[in-house]
Amino acid sequence: MNWESLDWEVLDRLRESFLTGSAANGPYWHTLTDLECYNFTYGERIGWKWDAVLRELKLLGWTPCGEPVESAGGESRPTILDWGCGSGIAGRRVADFFGPGNFSRLLVHDHSALAMDFAEHHGRRIFPALTVERAGRVFLDSAEPIGVLVVSHVLNELDEAARAELRALAARARTILWVEPGTHDVSRALGGWRERLRGQFRAIAPCPHQATCGVLEPGNERHWCHFFAAPPAGVYADSGWVKFGQRAGIDLRSLPYSFLVLDQRRGTAGGPAGFSRILGEPRHYKGYAKIFNCDETGVSELMLQKRDAPEIFKALKYPDGPMIYRWTRNGDRITSAEPRSEG
Ligand SMILES: C[S@@+](CC[C@H](N)C(=O)[O-])C[C@H]1O[C@@H](n2cnc3c(N)ncnc32)[C@H](O)[C@@H]1O
Repeated sequence: MNWESLDWEVLDRLRESFLTGSAANGPYWHTLTDLECYNFTYGERIGWKWDAVLRELKLLGWTPCGEPVESAGGESRPTILDWGCGSGIAGRRVADFFGPGNFSRLLVHDHSALAMDFAEHHGRRIFPALTVERAGRVFLDSAEPIGVLVVSHVLNELDEAARAELRALAARARTILWVEPGTHDVSRALGGWRERLRGQFRAIAPCPHQATCGVLEPGNERHWCHFFAAPPAGVYADSGWVKFGQRAGIDLRSLPYSFLVLDQRRGTAGGPAGFSRILGEPRHYKGYAKIFNCDETGVSELMLQKRDAPEIFKALKYPDGPMIYRWTRNGDRITSAEPRSEG
């Protein structure tokens, strides 16, 4: 597929169903061309969000957990299950990033058989040495551990039965990698999943702590946990992407997302203590910046004076990764900052 062969009317119809919420009424993929067009545009943009999340995991030095091997007391290479796979972009990004050789297989599932066909076919083409197949009903209904459960951009399409199915799968997962749009409602819904899964899992990202989600505390209803990924260089100058942005009503510069990475690795407590994370984007004013801060005590608005930490002030203007710091504070005023070191 390329910009010339793209069927723009298919994209218009998909956009309509995403915007009106009719995507929640059942499978909406009519032909493989629908998936091809989606994969080339909407799917690719979702891939850029996954790239940001995976890059962050690399900075944290994190890798997916294996599956327990009871007899040997060790771990085997994990299975990836891409649930609600659509064109399969998310599962492929994950397999590619950590290396397909580090997984035992890539399973795809969707309530659309066409989507599974597409995802299976492309997975096999891209990873010829990896087993790529549909997750069978027996596997989906079993109690078998799931090494890596991948979920991407499905939350606002699920009814109660589908949420129950996902809850059961999540309970079997050793690792959950979940990326959603950065909208207020979806992000807060994802936060609700974090709260329900918190007892069973460690929060790896985006949370710099294991405590209750501060955004969901009473009084914070207008806030949401979200971040911005950077599209690849050159997108703005690409006439195909520019046309896509205009026709789909999408600002190409802004790639908001929310996400959740959980694992069940034993024996370690999560990341180092005492760190905070900036949610959304810092707001810069003359000589100072305001940030919306998340740490284990909750969320709050803080202020950083340029003169107190000029390097950090500058870094917040042009962030090139997750904004995670250990602050020294005087009330709501940050007086100095230590960035989280890598790995
Ligand atoms: C917006 S697409 C996202 C596809 C893909 N995960 C991605 O990130 O590009 C949502 C996908 O979820 C699937 N889906 C919606 N409800 C589902 C359900 N109850 N069970 C399985 N798949 C579902 C849809 O068929 C569609 O392929």
